[in-house]
Amino acid sequence: MTRVIAVASGKGGVGKTTVTANLGIALSLLEEDTLIMDMDINMANLELIVGLEGKQVTLQDVLAGKDNIYNAIYEGPGGVHIVPAGLSLPNLKYIKRERMEKVFDQLIGNVDIILIDSPAGLERDALAAMSPADEMVLVTTPEVTSLTDTLKTKLLAERMGISILGVVLNRDKYDDDFLTPEEVEAIMDVPILCIIPENEDLISFFAHGTPVLIEEPESPVSTTFMELAAYLVDKEYSMPEIPKKSFISKFIDGLLGNTPFKPRKHQGY
Ligand SMILES: Nc1ncnc2c1ncn2[C@@H]1O[C@H](COP(=O)(O)OP(=O)(O)O)[C@@H](O)[C@H]1O
Ligand SMILES: [Mg+2]
Repeated sequence: MTRVIAVASGKGGVGKTTVTANLGIALSLLEEDTLIMDMDINMANLELIVGLEGKQVTLQDVLAGKDNIYNAIYEGPGGVHIVPAGLSLPNLKYIKRERMEKVFDQLIGNVDIILIDSPAGLERDALAAMSPADEMVLVTTPEVTSLTDTLKTKLLAERMGISILGVVLNRDKYDDDFLTPEEVEAIMDVPILCIIPENEDLISFFAHGTPVLIEEPESPVSTTFMELAAYLVDKEYSMPEIPKKSFISKFIDGLLGNTPFKPRKHQGY
């Protein structure tokens, strides 16, 4: 059975795409067959952060009836399947959101998990992105405005029969001017799934299309995403032990010209 999970928030810019991309990669690394669908068609940027920009067939083409969904699925970092929305300004004249239902009919049953990167707000596009979902991960930053908007998203999703898995508190700043995790949990009335601090690396990886989980798999933020993924699929995750090389083996490596192991730089697919 395919699980369809929307990643949503009230406001834009709170980290939905960052969370969706990294969660999708983490689920794939845990051997869950995962597909990420960028349904934020007007503000699409998922493909940029996973280094998949410029693909010929995108969700826009599928919703315009020009191509089929199978031609819009690309392999991304960590083996996650990605459907990019296309970066060009959508030609709304041709895009028929009703075609989305057929797309989901074709995908359901063929993967373990579909993650939806949703548009912000409560308008038509946001509703269209939520409607195929059975479950939802909410994202908020610790500002009151972000939280109140995400609360509205939560209430609407519940009305639509979507089960709320919890909230990711992103860009936490541990500062008096911001809400504490306890306050966020109390106001949202759902569990906090994880807390991701303000993290300069995420901005830099975002800008370069190189996900942190691939570039720095042992970093605290990567571990947080792996733990979140493991929790959502009820699997165990423990950080892999990094084998410490003895002086002798380092010396032999040096003699043989072996370079130390570095995670493979993502080249795009
Ligand atoms: N924890 C974080 N720390 C620092 N910057 C972040 C963090 N999460 C996201 N960002 C940055 O915030 C910006 C908006 O994130 P994005 O994922 O596009 O949000 P949304 O999809 O909700 O609009 C991006 O530049 C991203 O790199
Ligand atoms: Mg986004």
